[in-house]
Amino acid sequence: MRSLFRGQTKLFQNWLSASGAIVATAAFFAFLFLFLTDILATHGNPYVGLLAYIVAPVFFFSGSGLMWYGFWLHRRHVYKGDANVHPLIIDLTRVRDRRILQFFMGGAVAFLLVTAIGVTETYHYTESTGFCGETCHGPMHPERTAYLNSPHARVGCVECHVGSGAQYYVKAKLNGMHQLLATIANNYSRPIPTPIKNLRPAQETCEQCHWPSKLSGNLDRTYRHFLSDQTNSPFTVRLLLLVGASDINPVMANGIHWHINITNKVEYFASDPQRQIIPWVRVSHADGTSTVYRSPDFKGEPDPTQLRRMDCLDCHNRPAHRYSTPNESIDQAIATGAIDRSIPWVKSNLVAALTVRYETKPEAFQKISDRLRGVYKDNPAAEKIVAQAQHIYSQTFFPEMKADWRAYPDNKGHKEWPGCFRCHDGQHTTADAKRKIGGSECNSCHVILAQGSTPEDLKKLNSEGHTFFHVDAEYSDLSCNNCHTGGQIKE
Ligand code: HEC
Ligand code: HEC
Ligand code: HEC
Ligand code: HEC
Ligand code: HEC
Ligand code: HEC
Repeated sequence: MRSLFRGQTKLFQNWLSASGAIVATAAFFAFLFLFLTDILATHGNPYVGLLAYIVAPVFFFSGSGLMWYGFWLHRRHVYKGDANVHPLIIDLTRVRDRRILQFFMGGAVAFLLVTAIGVTETYHYTESTGFCGETCHGPMHPERTAYLNSPHARVGCVECHVGSGAQYYVKAKLNGMHQLLATIANNYSRPIPTPIKNLRPAQETCEQCHWPSKLSGNLDRTYRHFLSDQTNSPFTVRLLLLVGASDINPVMANGIHWHINITNKVEYFASDPQRQIIPWVRVSHADGTSTVYRSPDFKGEPDPTQLRRMDCLDCHNRPAHRYSTPNESIDQAIATGAIDRSIPWVKSNLVAALTVRYETKPEAFQKISDRLRGVYKDNPAAEKIVAQAQHIYSQTFFPEMKADWRAYPDNKGHKEWPGCFRCHDGQHTTADAKRKIGGSECNSCHVILAQGSTPEDLKKLNSEGHTFFHVDAEYSDLSCNNCHTGGQIKE
């Protein structure tokens, strides 16, 4: 290098090359900062990689390019005889030189400062919920809307999606870049597929805030429904969910959270990408033995690499992005008084208006309005009903992304999706058919404390659990979701 440039290094001594050098230096320090943040940060952020390994180098090479361009330009002048090869001499006694130097130094300091602030700000921005949910507005709009309505609305996206630890961080980083490119090229899938294959294990995300030993006790939950009849009759179920240790049912002493007790290892094989069909389940016991349960039509052995160990997300798969079913949204709106229950057939008319497939949100708003105004022509409440229906639509339907409850099953219960009954359907047995998966009776997971339509019904508490009387009608065993689709009920 030295011999090659002997006598020529002076050619770098010009303002253009000096500016290039400053840009390159700033980029180099920005890279160092980002690189260190990248490897030292406890909460990795996939987009830092983008800044560190793409944006900073682009500036570094542009700066270097500018240096060489100055060199080349200067050399050309020299060879043409326009100038002598002389180093840039700054003579502070000359007014012109002082001005240029002041200007240059000012510019350089400002540039370095802006770079430093820019880099830190960009870094914080990529960490923010706004970046994930808003910048990436098109694809993430449904997830963000559902998230803002969820109990985790104050938990940052990165807390669940990135977290700490090198292995998942690298995966998230590659993923982040891939997603950014897909967004720019507009070729991401609609809806965004679920489940996320490489989501961090729940121990490293959920359990940072909800440690298992803290999760105990049972939950008293009341589910308020309104039937699709003329009077929108109320029908309420009050359940005691046996989440933690249960003294009510000694057989199920460990409750629903039994699965996350560290000594209980449940692995399963799902035969579909959404993990809705589970024909094979293995429980490993503390003494080293294990029990395998299969559904009647599954004979072979599953591919060992396709097995998944059950964790929080196998039940709580929609903790931050639950798309309520139209049935639930309207029950909720009637229960809170947002929709007046005395309006005839309001429950069934609203469900029907919402569940039509619309291509775009404006189309949906228009058609929902036309339809309901048609039905409630002479009703002064028509305006309010339309506004409520449109509000519900905007919070739970995202036609441009094909995202709504139909695309995203919730595994926590068993009414609209198979959920718990993917395993607890009473059909999974050991090879000798002698044992089936325990916990598959109606009282294993909850007891019905009260049920019915009137306040008097709901006062008749039964700590042993009522038998579910299902709105006075027949229901066939465990396949609730055969009829309950979340929208119109199939009979
Ligand atoms: C409380 C934890 C949590 C938070 C906070 C969270 N998510 Fe999620 N997210 C999940 C889980 C769990 C899934 C589903 C994973 C699965 O089933 O594999 C998911 C799935 C997704 C999906 C895939 C499509 C889908 O709906 O299943 C996207 C996209 C997504 N989240 C974006 C975001 C964005 C953007 C934010 C912040 C505005 C965010 N998430 C905040 C837990 C969270
Ligand atoms: C940064 C902390 C944090 C993380 C990470 C987190 N949560 Fe939560 N979670 C909370 C807080 C705070 C609440 C209570 C919200 C409330 O009371 O409204 C909550 C509430 C819940 C609830 C009760 C919801 C309800 O309907 O009342 C469930 C279930 C839950 N979280 C599951 C999860 C799962 C599953 C994950 C991992 C995907 C997770 N959480 C990750 C902080 C967290
Ligand atoms: C077998 C399914 C299943 C698994 C696995 C599971 N849960 Fe739950 N969990 C439930 C059910 C069902 C409820 C009560 C119903 C509800 O939230 O609507 C519940 C309730 C909760 C609550 C609310 C408790 C309260 O007092 O409000 C939290 C928080 C929670 N689970 C966190 C977790 C975490 C964290 C994990 C993983 C370590 C986990 N769960 C694993 C099924 C499960
Ligand atoms: C992947 C399969 C699978 C899914 C999904 C599943 N479970 Fe389980 N569950 C099991 C297995 C296996 C056992 C152990 C039963 C046995 O060995 O007889 C079990 C045991 C239980 C028990 C009994 C605990 C005890 O004290 O013995 C309860 C209660 C339970 N599950 C509730 C639920 C609920 C509620 C859901 C849905 C939110 C659910 N399970 C989802 C596989 C599953
Ligand atoms: C493996 C555990 C399990 C078994 C077995 C089980 N359930 Fe449930 N059930 C749940 C859970 C969990 C929820 C709560 C879902 C939620 O909060 O989202 C629930 C909710 C319900 C609800 C309230 C739904 C609503 O929206 O009003 C009814 C009613 C119900 N179960 C009836 C039954 C009947 C009847 C049986 C027996 C045929 C049964 N369950 C068996 C776990 C179970
Ligand atoms: C054969 C079809 C069928 C099956 C199976 C079925 N249901 Fe229903 N269910 C209905 C019909 C029809 C209604 C009345 C709906 C209405 O008027 O809006 C209803 C109403 C209900 C309601 C009150 C209204 C509502 O929309 O939420 C609950 C809660 C309910 N069923 C729970 C269950 C549960 C839990 C199971 C499984 C254990 C189940 N059903 C199985 C058909 C069925």
